[in-house]
Order: sequence, then C-alpha cells, then structure tokens
Amino acid sequence: MAKHTIVGIPGDGIGPEVTAATRRVLAAAGLDAEWVELPAGATAIEQGYDNVLPQRTLAAIQAHKFALKGPVTTPVGKGFTSVNVQLRKKLNLYAAVRPVRNLPGVNTRYQGVDIVIVRENTEGLYSGIENEVVPGVVTSLKVASEGACMRIARFAFRYATRRHRKKLTVFHKANIMKLTDGLFLTCARRVSEEEYPNIEYEEMIIDAGCMKLVQDPTRFDMLLMENLYGDLVSDLCAGLVGGLGVVGGSNIGDAAAVFEAVHGSAPDIAGKGVANPLALIVSATMMLDHMHEEAISQKVREAYEAVLKDGKSLTRDLGGTAGTEEFAEALIRRLK
Ligand code: NAI
Repeated sequence: MAKHTIVGIPGDGIGPEVTAATRRVLAAAGLDAEWVELPAGATAIEQGYDNVLPQRTLAAIQAHKFALKGPVTTPVGKGFTSVNVQLRKKLNLYAAVRPVRNLPGVNTRYQGVDIVIVRENTEGLYSGIENEVVPGVVTSLKVASEGACMRIARFAFRYATRRHRKKLTVFHKANIMKLTDGLFLTCARRVSEEEYPNIEYEEMIIDAGCMKLVQDPTRFDMLLMENLYGDLVSDLCAGLVGGLGVVGGSNIGDAAAVFEAVHGSAPDIAGKGVANPLALIVSATMMLDHMHEEAISQKVREAYEAVLKDGKSLTRDLGGTAGTEEFAEALIRRLK
C-alpha cells in the first residue's frame, strides 16, 4: 500500500497538462503516493455531473485529506457557485497560505523577497451576505467572529514557529472598522502575548502596509489578514516576485487541505503543451511539507531552482521556448 493517498484534480484548460507534469516530478522525486483522480470544474459538467464540484470529489478529499488541484473554469452565467468557494465552505478550509519569494532566474523589480501571507478564508466581506435595503441602496455585511479570528491567529503563529519565521505583521483597518477589524486585531494580539511571545509581532494599517510593501518588501516576514485584504494583498505580493505563474498556494483546514497554483485555466494556451507547471509544482512542495515529506520537497525545490538558474529550459512565460514536458524533464534530470 502506498504511504499517501492524494486526490488529484486535473481541472480544466491547462490543468491536465500541469497536473500530469507535477505528478511525474513528484514520482521521480520519490513520493510514495496513490492518486485518486476525480473531476471538478467545467470538466465535471462535461462528464455528466450536476455540480462543478461533484459529491464524489468532495467525499474523496474528506476521506484522503489531501488534494492537488489544477485550475478550473467556472462556467459563466449558469448559476454555479465556484469550485474554490464550495471547497472552502464545505471542507472548512479556513486558512489560505501563500508563500512568495524570489526565484533564481526570474527577473523582478525586487530581490530578497520572502513573505508568507496567511489569509482568513471563511469570513469578512467574503461572507457574501448582501442586501438591497431599498432600490438603489445595497449593503454587504462584513462578518468577524471571535472563534474564527482566534483560529486563524493561532494557525499563523503555529506556522511561524514551525517554519522558523521571526516576525508576524497584521494588516488591518481597525481605525475605521473598529468592531470587525478591531476583533481580528484583539485576537491576534492576545495569541501573540499569551501563546507566542517569542515571535516578533507588529500591527499595521493596511494602506500604509501596502505602501511599505512596494517600497521595501524585504522588511516583511509573515503577513496575517482577513479575507478580502488577503485576497488583494496576496496577488500584489505575487507581482513582487514575478507574477501568478511562479506562485503556489494552499487552502488548509483541520480535516483537509487543498493545494493549487494561483493562476487560472489559461484557455488561450490550453492543449498546446506550453503552460508553465512551476506554480503547481511549488504548490506541490507545500503539500509535501504539510504531509511531513520535507526531504522530498527540498529535493524538488532545489531541482527547480537549478533549472531556473540554468535558464536553458524555461517556458515561454519566463522568456524561454521550452514546453510543459520539457521543463518537467529538465527538473527531473536535476533531482538529486
Ligand atoms: P489565467 O490565470 O488563466 O490566465 C491569465 C494569463 O496568464 C493568460 O494569458 C494565460 O495564458 C497566462 N497563464 C496562466 N497560467 C499560466 C501558466 N501556468 N503558464 C503560462 N501562462 C499562464 O486567468 P484568466 O484568463 O483570468 O482565467 C481563465 C479561467 O481560469 C477563468 O475561467 C477563471 O475563472 C479561472 N480561474 C481559476 C482559478 C483556480 O481554479 N484557482 C484561479 C483563477 C482563475
């Protein structure tokens, strides 16, 4: 029996190409895993399921706890709730974690960036509770609960401790949203003081924080924030290190975790074999760390850094001419 069982969701567009390449890399790196392949997204509808997130796929993730997911296309205008929103809600994936750091050979404006963003994934303005008060006047409710704020603060500090991070900065707007962001801040402060006094703790009003991020991102180590801020700031941070093609992400809960690249299904290049699988491979290394396969993840990381540094097998988005498979092959050759 394999050591791990992982739900593999190829997804739509370039999804099948980048997931296949990633799985080959993981196998070559020595991961002992059995894959349960199931659909989500437009592919699920094409296969006759009545939901972009079929019950079978959801149940498999619940049973096996880990999923590596390719990007999916949410059919527009057909009334489907997005796969990602459904996954977060149904599996209670309350923490979105996105590490952003410079990679060798990827030219960007900044050097020395190494930030982990932790985003609360279940509340805030993303609760989607909207209301038409009278015609022409609508409201959207921002929700913060003590339970969820404490949970995400503890998650972030625990992560910081395990990954030897030194400092955690909370972005907030508690000067204006005194109750909701105030509660988020109070909880983070409490966890910092009572449970993790060894990690440096800092609070910053988000507008000033954004300015400081683009002035000097190297001053930040870990960032913690509520849902909407996290959504925006994590894409901003991806831009600091070369964009969506090189950044991985994860959605983590107590009972399951889903790992995926940040980019979408890229229909413009789907099926051409030219997509860059790197972002999904980066996400896969996060999954390996999460399942305590740190030695394998380190091996994969060193191999893709070597390929990037070498610069001979880069995909088109990074200025090269290699296809998806060629990049994966070059990476596999570098595995030690
Ligand atoms: P996109 O990220 O799919 O594409 C934006 C641009 O980046 C395109 O030019 C594409 O060719 C390029 N690109 C993206 N990934 C690439 C890769 N790995 N290698 C090389 N080039 C890459 O964003 P877009 O076009 O806004 O969305 C397309 C579809 O993806 C939509 O249906 C959207 O809903 C979905 N989407 C799904 C996500 C997910 O499942 N996590 C996340 C974002 C979008």
